[in-house]
Amino acid sequence: MILIVKYGLVNAKMVFVTAVIIILLMTATGIVLKISDVSFPAISQKNWNCLSKEWCYALGKYSFCSSAGTCNCSKIADLDVENVFCKWNGQNDPDMCIFDYHCKYIHNGYCIDEVCGCQDDHLLQDDKCIPKIGAPCDNELTLNCPLQNSECLNGICLCTEGYVSYQNEMCYLKKDQLGDECVVDVQCSAGITNSKCVKGKCNCDDNYLPYNNTCYEKKEYNSYCDNLLQCRISLGETFACRNRMCQCPTSYTMKEDKCSSSNARSGSFFVIAFALVLKCVQFSI
Ligand SMILES: *[C@@H]1O[C@H](CO)[C@@H](O)[C@H](O)[C@H]1NC(C)=O
Ligand SMILES: *[C@@H]1O[C@H](CO)[C@@H](O)[C@H](O)[C@H]1NC(C)=O
Repeated sequence: MILIVKYGLVNAKMVFVTAVIIILLMTATGIVLKISDVSFPAISQKNWNCLSKEWCYALGKYSFCSSAGTCNCSKIADLDVENVFCKWNGQNDPDMCIFDYHCKYIHNGYCIDEVCGCQDDHLLQDDKCIPKIGAPCDNELTLNCPLQNSECLNGICLCTEGYVSYQNEMCYLKKDQLGDECVVDVQCSAGITNSKCVKGKCNCDDNYLPYNNTCYEKKEYNSYCDNLLQCRISLGETFACRNRMCQCPTSYTMKEDKCSSSNARSGSFFVIAFALVLKCVQFSI
């Protein structure tokens, strides 16, 4: 009997020694440090990062893990800087939640930053969290993308064909003509590059000019171009895109914001001179 106990003790001792050696080895390699960071983070951690409420318990029970992943003091507590502790401020907030089950009155609701709400890719509507555009959905079930003009396509809520998403929360009719009525920019810009919604109508962005339902970048003399229209729309009919720059055509010069033939005057000079010569010839005959 004594032998067995003795043997057992020896065994326990060995286990203990082995464990210590393993822990020492793991500490040396940083494994245990990592584990202890996870288990008792708030005490030792230098930053206030957290993954769940438990990480923040060192701050006391009036603490929570924020949606940004930091330990914060609760709304009804203030940080006691000296003791690094969240101290109750004597107030109560009936709307405050601590756990998700406090938010059961919202379908699919969660407690986020001590307020009942929806996950990021969901929208609160009539006490329900409904999937936004881009949120996963089940193709099998109808009505699982309840936003107006959206549908479940390949497992993701998307705006129906011909509609564009606004902040993933609404689907607006896509417009394809400058001058069409609009509410948000994306309705115009989705169909017409460099356009936006100005006073309820699709118009070109600042620095762009409309022509033939297209928005052309405003050009100055000598600025880069890759087609004729770009220059003509900004500068006028007489301009050309020459050597990839908005310029006057060859043998034209700019005068009063127009390109005019540099030969025009010398041309007429020749005509007059020729006429004079003719006259002289006439007289001399
Ligand atoms: C958490 O604390 C940080 C730092 O004080 C602050 O910037 C942030 O707004 C707080 N977040 C919440 C949800 O209270
Ligand atoms: C106007 O745009 C349409 C479509 O891009 C094009 O087919 C047509 O040639 C353009 N008209 C003019 C005058 O540039």
